[in-house]
Amino acid sequence: DKGTYPFYMLKEIDEQPIVIRNLLSRYFDADKHVQFGSEILREIREADRLYIIAAGTSYHAGLVGGRMFEQWSGKPTEVHISSEFAYEQPLLSEKPFFIFLSQSGETADSREVLQQINAQGHHSLTLTNVEKSTLWREATYALPLLAGPEIAVASTKAYIAQVTLEAMLAYAVADQAQLGFDLEQELSKIAVDIQGIVDDKETFKQVAEELLVPAQSAFYIGRGVDSAVSLEAALKLKEISYVQAEGFAAGELKHGTLALIEKGTPVIALMTQPKMALLTRGNLAETQARGAKAYTIVSKSIAKANDNYVLPDTIDLLSPLLSVVPTQLLAYYTSLGRGLDVDRPRNLAKSVTVQ
Ligand code: M6R
Repeated sequence: DKGTYPFYMLKEIDEQPIVIRNLLSRYFDADKHVQFGSEILREIREADRLYIIAAGTSYHAGLVGGRMFEQWSGKPTEVHISSEFAYEQPLLSEKPFFIFLSQSGETADSREVLQQINAQGHHSLTLTNVEKSTLWREATYALPLLAGPEIAVASTKAYIAQVTLEAMLAYAVADQAQLGFDLEQELSKIAVDIQGIVDDKETFKQVAEELLVPAQSAFYIGRGVDSAVSLEAALKLKEISYVQAEGFAAGELKHGTLALIEKGTPVIALMTQPKMALLTRGNLAETQARGAKAYTIVSKSIAKANDNYVLPDTIDLLSPLLSVVPTQLLAYYTSLGRGLDVDRPRNLAKSVTVQ
């Protein structure tokens, strides 16, 4: 039930702080230790390489999680689009372990991969929002995303749940003393901070109306994990507002895409990674010199006076949980401003059960 909301998508964006709190209360015990089946953690620890398999927004959540497993847990990780992996399986390591990400648990492309790797005798873990779904049942292990039903075709809270749960898993297998932060504390703070961002709806409504509703095309850029969020931001914008949008690694601009920048083209830069922000600023300036309309979404510690939207600080790889939220709201208000059916974009289905 949408309650007083005009569209499910807005309700689901608003539910994101609760989603993080649900995951915290399910997976952290009273002593603040992460609680997963010991079997799952053993399999991840013993694997020599992780393979994250997913499609669409779930794939974008995988791009974030892959970085966590590598940088926090020291575990080599590959992130693959399921429809590609299914028909061109890369060479696998000696002891692979698979992690499937899927809101619905029914995505045909991912099911195809799971059947193949089951036949090859490999073990897997599915993170899904739908208990007893196919990917839940057919994987060796499964954990629920606890995001509650996601009705809007555009996935929002499932992304937040996937990134949160990946963080918890990566943290659980990492050397926590060496990481030097308390994940439970950081996630609790992020839940509060997301609330602050969703309370700024009016800001994003205005920006969407001025910058994106009239646009033919738009670009999201960022470096490191911000490039992964740029992909998700662009997908969200195109799928519900039909604005031609591209998201990519900011350093790639000068290798081709810069040719598309015209007077008035919106370029939105995500900058949450201190060691890369200056370089992204340089790339953004190149687009502005060609007439782009720039909008910046920046973490507080690296923000400058003329930045447009300032995000609270957090651990580098947790920043997608914050930076994605303004992009969800921008997509929502662009779709709304164009008079479209936000929850049911043309040509798309919530769950893609064909390959
Ligand atoms: O149910 P899944 O997470 O497996 O679905 C994967 C994609 O079809 C899905 O994320 C799609 O990209 C969304 N509509 C994006 O908002």
